[in-house]
Amino acid sequence: MRRLRQTEAIRNLVAEVNLTVNDLVAPLFVREDLSEPVPIDSLPGVSQHSQESLIAEVDRLATLGVPGVILFGIPAEKDPEGSESWNPEGVVQVALGNLRQRFGDDIVLMADLCVDEYTSHGHCGIIDAHGRVDNDETLDLYANAAVAQAEAGAHIVAPSGMMDGQVLVIRDALDEAEQTDVSILAYSAKYASAFYGPFRDAVDVTIADGGNRSGYQQDWRNGREALEEIRLDVGEGADMIMVKPAMSYLDIVTRARMELDIPIAAYHVSGEYAMVKAAAANGWIDGDVAALEQLTAIKRAGADFILTYFAGDIAQRLA
Ligand code: PBG
Repeated sequence: MRRLRQTEAIRNLVAEVNLTVNDLVAPLFVREDLSEPVPIDSLPGVSQHSQESLIAEVDRLATLGVPGVILFGIPAEKDPEGSESWNPEGVVQVALGNLRQRFGDDIVLMADLCVDEYTSHGHCGIIDAHGRVDNDETLDLYANAAVAQAEAGAHIVAPSGMMDGQVLVIRDALDEAEQTDVSILAYSAKYASAFYGPFRDAVDVTIADGGNRSGYQQDWRNGREALEEIRLDVGEGADMIMVKPAMSYLDIVTRARMELDIPIAAYHVSGEYAMVKAAAANGWIDGDVAALEQLTAIKRAGADFILTYFAGDIAQRLA
């Protein structure tokens, strides 16, 4: 075996996977009523964008060849239902409209479909009298948000709330609104992870009562359950599925790959990015190489594409 590792040319020849720019999707944050972009401390190199700076950032990414972006919105006003998530004038809907007009079909526009950035309590749905998220009441909100995002210009909606039945309800609502060409990327296997920490700073979310999302996101002790979640979403009409986070869940990516022939995404999340950046800033690791190693490993595990805050950096490196 070692004979095949002796020169870089031979190594390139026999490499099993190569990360390319086509594998990358950049998560982007857009905040209402902002005139200048605001850097996010816990995500070095990532900012909350104004509508204008968002267009400039997408332009930069498109020029580098990044095929897709996924948008997250930070509204000026939050309420218990998260109603800004389906307001046609809401921050993400306005951004989708601007980007679709400017870039047409040249870059894939995805929208994270959840209400946690829009609710005053920070949960991914409506809270019932017992303080729990009401699954079925929440589904109507997701249907509204899906239609608003599709009508604003999203090519793909990505439900991330982990409510049972969400994919079916969203597919029905999209079809009813004659948005039959809009695809669903389901965050099917989404774990209640500590690695989302920096993201909550990025979207100004504090979950009420020091709460967490273990009542609806998955328990990290479980693997089989993730496969069952994925099967349910595929049965409900998901066009693509996602595993999230990525690095601690490569076993799930691989098991999903063995079972499915539809596209599989993995989300290299905020905490995974922040750890690499922090260690690199201390001079403890080579951050660029570590990022390339991690993202390549995600692809090797079986993902077809990766949502990553490194998208711009890596695209530049691979160019
Ligand atoms: C929910 C959502 C979250 C992330 C993506 N979509 C936060 C959560 O579930 O608490 C996290 C992404 C990241 O950490 O990079 N809208």
